[in-house]
Amino acid sequence: MDVIVAGDRTELVKAKDALGGGRIALVPTMGALHEGHRSLIRLARELADHVVVSVFVNPLQFGPNEDFSRYPRTFDADLAACAEEGVRVVFAPSAEDMYLPDRQVQVSAGRMGAIVEGAFRPGHFDGVLTVVLKLFNLVQPDVAVFGQKDAQQLALIRRMVADLNVPVEIAGGPTVREPDGLALSSRNRYLSPADRVTALALSRALRAGSGRAVPSEILRAAAAVLDEAARLDPPLLLDYVALVDPATFTPVEDGFRGEAVLAVAAKVGTTRLIDNLVVAVS
Ligand code: PAJ
Repeated sequence: MDVIVAGDRTELVKAKDALGGGRIALVPTMGALHEGHRSLIRLARELADHVVVSVFVNPLQFGPNEDFSRYPRTFDADLAACAEEGVRVVFAPSAEDMYLPDRQVQVSAGRMGAIVEGAFRPGHFDGVLTVVLKLFNLVQPDVAVFGQKDAQQLALIRRMVADLNVPVEIAGGPTVREPDGLALSSRNRYLSPADRVTALALSRALRAGSGRAVPSEILRAAAAVLDEAARLDPPLLLDYVALVDPATFTPVEDGFRGEAVLAVAAKVGTTRLIDNLVVAVS
């Protein structure tokens, strides 16, 4: 079946009518779709009768010195990928359609939005939660699917849904990686061949950490790999490596038992990359 492209809210209402009922899964994206996005679409298909994919590069979640203007925009290829994966509706609104010029109210991610990744990207998670809540209100899905690749984003969306009684189920999909370990990301296309070699240190550090069981040792093993990569050309410029509670993103310390998220963020050249792995702490 053909994909219906809805370019604004009115067209979205019509497209939803055309589906004629059934369970709807939403996969929110910023486009430049890769195999990671596609795996979420396939998961969404298992969870509902119809899949809606949103493609919207959300200006609200980019800082003033971030890559909003150069963020990759590949709409034709995205549409082809959605058609191949059996998506029924692609919702691709303009910024003008999404945000009123006199808008005032937005979602606050709270304290959890200001730690770990949020400490390096002030306002980022407020922007993410605001657009995600708007997409939920517009599409009114039964279930929405997000990637574990952005673990803090996923945790905050679950928090928002619980705190604000948003009537949607949240499903998480595992991180899709290149064979050499690099997590797929729309930003990987910025990497030069030399950048890409340095970038491998992120996933290598996570694997090194996951081989240990005690928080301080997990962090030490990961940091050793990252320190070494800081001496490469180009160097890995570390923002943070943190071992945190998967639900709250507060640090996990020695004595903690259970699953924790080992999260890392670094710049390689002009590209900022994040990655994480769930590790068993005992
Ligand atoms: P974007 O970066 O396009 O990612 C869309 C979804 O794909 C997110 O849920 C993200 O976690 C997931 N994803 C990205 N890389 C992945 C990978 N390698 N494996 C599995 N899933 C992956 O995240 C956003 O857009 C935005 O913040 C958004 C939620 C759309 C709000 O604007």
